[in-house]
Amino acid sequence: MASPTSSAAQLDHFFSSSAARLDRWRELNARAQAWAAEARDCKPGGGRAAVEAALVEVRALEDFFAYPGSRLMKTLAERIAADDALGAARLVRRMSGALLSGSYRHDNGEWEASDEDSAGVPDRLSATLEGGEAHRPYFETLFVTPAPAASLAKVAQEIRRLRRVEDAMVYEPVLVGSLEDALIATILNGKIEAVVIYDGIPVPSQHEVPLLRDFLTTHHQLDTSSLAPREVGVTLARLIQRIRPELDLYLLTDREVEKLAGDPAASMIRRVFYEVEELMEVHLNILEGVADRFSTPHFDNLKRYAARPIATFHALPIARGKSIMKSNWIRDMGEFYGQNLFLAETSATTGGLDSMLEPTGTIKVAQEKFARAVGADHVFFVTNGTSTSNKMVYQAVTKPGDIVIVDRNCHKSHHYGMVLSGAQPLYVEAFPLTEYSMYGAVPLRTIKQALLDLKAEGRLDRVKMVTLTNCTFDGHVYNTRRVMEECLAIKPDLIFLWDEAWFGFARWSPFLRPRTGLGAAAALEEWRASPAALKAYQAQAAELGEDLDPKDEGLLKRRLVPDPRKIRIRVYETDSVHKSMSALRQGSIVAVRDEDYSHHVSAFREAVYIHASTSPNAQIIASLDVARRQMELEGYELVMRAFEIAFAIRRAVAEHPIISKYFRVLGADAMVPAAYRASGFRDYLAPGTTWVTAVKAVQEDEFFLDPTRMTLVCGTAGYDGTAFKNLLAEKYNIQLNKTSRNSVLLQSNINNTRSDVALLIKVLLGISQEIEAQLAEGGESGRAAFAARVKSLMTDVPDLPNFSRFHDGYREDPDSVTLEGDMRGAFFAAYEEDDCEYLPLMSPEIDKRLTSGPELVSANFVIPYPPGFPIMVPGQVIAADTIGFMRKLDVKEIHGYNDTRGLKLIKLSAIGAGAAARSMPAKRRQRSRGAA
Ligand SMILES: Cc1ncc(COP(=O)(O)O)c(C=O)c1O
Repeated sequence: MASPTSSAAQLDHFFSSSAARLDRWRELNARAQAWAAEARDCKPGGGRAAVEAALVEVRALEDFFAYPGSRLMKTLAERIAADDALGAARLVRRMSGALLSGSYRHDNGEWEASDEDSAGVPDRLSATLEGGEAHRPYFETLFVTPAPAASLAKVAQEIRRLRRVEDAMVYEPVLVGSLEDALIATILNGKIEAVVIYDGIPVPSQHEVPLLRDFLTTHHQLDTSSLAPREVGVTLARLIQRIRPELDLYLLTDREVEKLAGDPAASMIRRVFYEVEELMEVHLNILEGVADRFSTPHFDNLKRYAARPIATFHALPIARGKSIMKSNWIRDMGEFYGQNLFLAETSATTGGLDSMLEPTGTIKVAQEKFARAVGADHVFFVTNGTSTSNKMVYQAVTKPGDIVIVDRNCHKSHHYGMVLSGAQPLYVEAFPLTEYSMYGAVPLRTIKQALLDLKAEGRLDRVKMVTLTNCTFDGHVYNTRRVMEECLAIKPDLIFLWDEAWFGFARWSPFLRPRTGLGAAAALEEWRASPAALKAYQAQAAELGEDLDPKDEGLLKRRLVPDPRKIRIRVYETDSVHKSMSALRQGSIVAVRDEDYSHHVSAFREAVYIHASTSPNAQIIASLDVARRQMELEGYELVMRAFEIAFAIRRAVAEHPIISKYFRVLGADAMVPAAYRASGFRDYLAPGTTWVTAVKAVQEDEFFLDPTRMTLVCGTAGYDGTAFKNLLAEKYNIQLNKTSRNSVLLQSNINNTRSDVALLIKVLLGISQEIEAQLAEGGESGRAAFAARVKSLMTDVPDLPNFSRFHDGYREDPDSVTLEGDMRGAFFAAYEEDDCEYLPLMSPEIDKRLTSGPELVSANFVIPYPPGFPIMVPGQVIAADTIGFMRKLDVKEIHGYNDTRGLKLIKLSAIGAGAAARSMPAKRRQRSRGAA
């Protein structure tokens, strides 16, 4: 164990673990090379002391990683002690190189202390493998053992001796001796795939880990000092599962294994072993567990299919690629994509291949594995993007006349989903960030108000679903658990659709997972089963009664507790796997954790039939399978890296003396108003921020900012978002996604490296320097023009228009407080061209009608990009602020707006009083007629 050092206090500063580790190695290498140069030039300086100091920094982390391991570290220490500067420099260069390139995972020589290449040394990766195969997947297994430090090397050697030639993978052991050290290793070392816990291990780490202790006591209410030795193993398993649920956990104990194995509190443990049993059993289980995550049934099957000599007599001439490879004219396509793409192309669903529309074989198993990986009961693969996943959910769980409370700012697939299903949207508004021409997310108070209003008006039974975008394009993350809890307190059987198109990766981050729909569903289920839940509810009921009074204003302010005996946990989450994981474009999933799913099974099947192509793309399905494999095996590490990249960008922009004059990345404090940050969290870069303050914010704040989504303000550099995006793409080969009037959105993901950061920063510096040069050259008038441009971009921003209302003809009860409407009726009314009219946006006729009528009623969706949400929906009465916003918009792409003819409107003469009634289900129509 490394002794506490000056940097040991930072050991549990986990935000940037892997980057910090590699940086320390780079620093050590630089100092070792400098010392060697001193020795070569016979100019003794402070080289050795500098190396020793850097080594202390490095050592603090190295106990938690298999490579380079104690033997190489010992050799290094010996060379330094012997004043062997050249030998130390050679070894450090090799070790840091192996770490950076990852070559230690398959190259035995990297583990050797001698400087010569040492093939044939049998005690590391190859161990008993007689030469070993080079590229078997490598991982690390954490052993949490009470063995004394002096015997750890022997224990590790015993574990290595378990390796067999037949093993499909190879792992190195990492040995630690306490609960706290095991947690640190789990957090720091993303290569760990399995954990073997010996019962009876001690709790405290030998390192200084104040943040970790604070976290355990404040966030897990865990007083480790009072844990009985017998409880430590299972407690550790529970804590590790919270951090990385994908890891396989094993417990070795000498107590009643049968009882432990049957204890629900120990259900996260994959196998319990009696300690004296053969270690070989443990070894085989470790390999089997990882192999299970590694296996990709559909992809593996497709590879086998591609290798078979198959003649096809069905459609799809591209299958097998002969029409391409033999062509005189299109062979380059085959050369470009490679033959396997065509060998694996098929429209067959038999002969060993499965059907996505009716899966019974490998696609079914692949979907089940994905469900396990994300904590869902069911997962459905979708090959047309989350645009289709969302429509499928509406189709499956809502019907004409149901009310859906939905963020108006959500993706268009939701609006179209309701047009298809006939559900009536009750739009709720996100808080505006007018300064940056964007919306945030919908405050919980607004959603509660909508539910309580519906209750007051006797229509709560009609509300079927609440739909929210989590996270939003710009990175606003809901407090998913709190939203569901409080909404269920008002209506206990609500369905939630969390559109997590951008957020699929969050499952693999312990910070973000609790804020996903599925993560919150799991937490809610756990809470519901606890005695504390009923107690909390009963205390509330004693004060407010069982039936909440919708007129009670106080309900909006307090945190409502649902009745744990009544609530149903009904969560649907849609993820664009292709947006944040390694799936091909359009690969998406619908993940279901709905305890009443049985009500929707046949409707869901219909939804699949309605929306899925009968020719789903086999490669997209295979890539979904592979994306799941990757995330289950290295998602944790990759997501952590995406965080590190984002922090590096944020830091570099903020700290650079020239870049920061013209650009800034908005922090949480700029993106989330203080009222929604109860924990007081300001930003990742704010002084005093640690991962513990971030965890507190995750738990307490209404909205949290996804660190990987960075709004870069470019208006202060004189660029509007679109112009800046085009500049980066055309001149610098940097692609980005969304823009606003004065900002662009940068996103880090699992694909980014620090070289990308370096490129971006170099480009931003170049642009900043150009601005400086232009300002210097332009003189007073140039500076004034620049200032005026910045002012126009940053302050002359149009107010964002709220949803006005549906025309009375599309509302069942025009007098009701809530504004849901029959959007579908309006949508189809516009199919009759004779019933529609067009008015140019700038025409004075529009202003006349806005002031003195008749009302303007939109015939279709009008969606400007950016901002990308519908500022008009079918049947909506168009208000002056919407027209004002549209007139100020300086974007070219406006879907639904006919540039030559103008706004498409439904003629009022075509909106009969019965418009709303027409779309009502027959039964309710009769009821309302009866009432009339
Ligand atoms: C919030 C949200 N949901 C759904 C979608 C549609 O996803 P896909 O591109 O996978 O069809 C998008 C696309 O940008 C989106 O931003």
